[in-house]
Amino acid sequence: MDKNGDFPARARNLFAFSGRVWYTDKEYFQGYIMAESQRQSLFSAVQPSGAVTIGNYIGAIRNFAKLQDEYNCIYAVADLHAITVRQEAAVLRRNTLELMALFIACGIDPEKCVLFVQSHVPAHCELTWVLNTIAYPGELSRMTQFKDKSAKHADNVNMGLMDYPVLMASDILLYQAALVPVGADQKQHLELTRDLAIRFNNRYGQTFTVPDGYIPKDSGARVMSLADPSRKMSKSDENPNGFVTMSDDRDTILRKFKRAVTDSEAEVRYDPEHKPGVSNLLVIYHAFTGKPLAEAEKDFAGKGYGDFKLAVGETVADALAPIQAERARLLADKPYLNEVMKRGAEQAARIARRTLSKVYRKVGFYSGE
Ligand code: TYM
Repeated sequence: MDKNGDFPARARNLFAFSGRVWYTDKEYFQGYIMAESQRQSLFSAVQPSGAVTIGNYIGAIRNFAKLQDEYNCIYAVADLHAITVRQEAAVLRRNTLELMALFIACGIDPEKCVLFVQSHVPAHCELTWVLNTIAYPGELSRMTQFKDKSAKHADNVNMGLMDYPVLMASDILLYQAALVPVGADQKQHLELTRDLAIRFNNRYGQTFTVPDGYIPKDSGARVMSLADPSRKMSKSDENPNGFVTMSDDRDTILRKFKRAVTDSEAEVRYDPEHKPGVSNLLVIYHAFTGKPLAEAEKDFAGKGYGDFKLAVGETVADALAPIQAERARLLADKPYLNEVMKRGAEQAARIARRTLSKVYRKVGFYSGE
């Protein structure tokens, strides 16, 4: 409706409402249905294992909303993955709800996407069991993340930690996803997903779509720690100055950027090899302003690092403020979030069940029909 409360002219001969757009004639609507069914599917997930960082946002979450008009998007809160390292039950529950609210606050529209909690759809565990029978311990123990996490949690090297990428493959393959938007650190897991899909298809006949990664190309695929720009920004970093979370307040954000490690020169230039700290800040600035890196460099020509770091901090704080306000508003409406997850899980389960039935048939499980 326009500002006078009238329907736009083109909607007067209203034919149908697709959930997104009003269509005025039958052909147009049928075209829409065709386009919808021909659209490719896309899957991604984030673990509710602590605070979400601006690295998660830049590398993955901000792309989730961008892609929702082009693909059938399915996004999950990966709580099954989260318990591969120890979690406190009450905290995990809270983080799950908060991540769901954050997804929506970042622009992911539950009317356009399927949004759900991984443990609400049993097919993820069921497909994992089948894929386990074609996954080899050798390839799983070679995964960088498994090695890193085993070293970090030496007192809890469990089977789930090793099987993590098979569960991730199940997430993706259940939805026949053609595309998976993730940061660079997930590339190896994505390769394994492709290998498992191809291996299964070769053994049992065409079953799974072999997915591609959607990894930010120019920059942003690997946001680095503010305290040590040779390491990835991570929510599990012991040094809280290394990462900025999506819920940090303005003062905290400005303080962390003020302390960010740069170099001994005084030139704001994008050169990740020789100037990793400055380049990382430029990438963050670019991600939150949308300005190309060359233009971002120009904004700071002749300026000192103090001004540069303050400007990047202010840009991030300004960009996060509306997201934080929306997240808080959503968290105050738990029934709405519960409803979104419930509907999402039902939609996801329907799609997942279709793939799982096909898999069960191919491997020879008796259906009882
Ligand atoms: P998680 O929860 O560790 O991270 C969520 C997403 O954030 C990206 N990311 C980064 N991107 C840029 N710079 C960084 N410093 C940075 N840190 C994290 C990650 O690449 C990821 O895209 N295994 C996944 C969750 C998952 C999943 C899936 C993803 C479970 N099932 C299926 C895709 C498809 C993970 O641990 O993400």
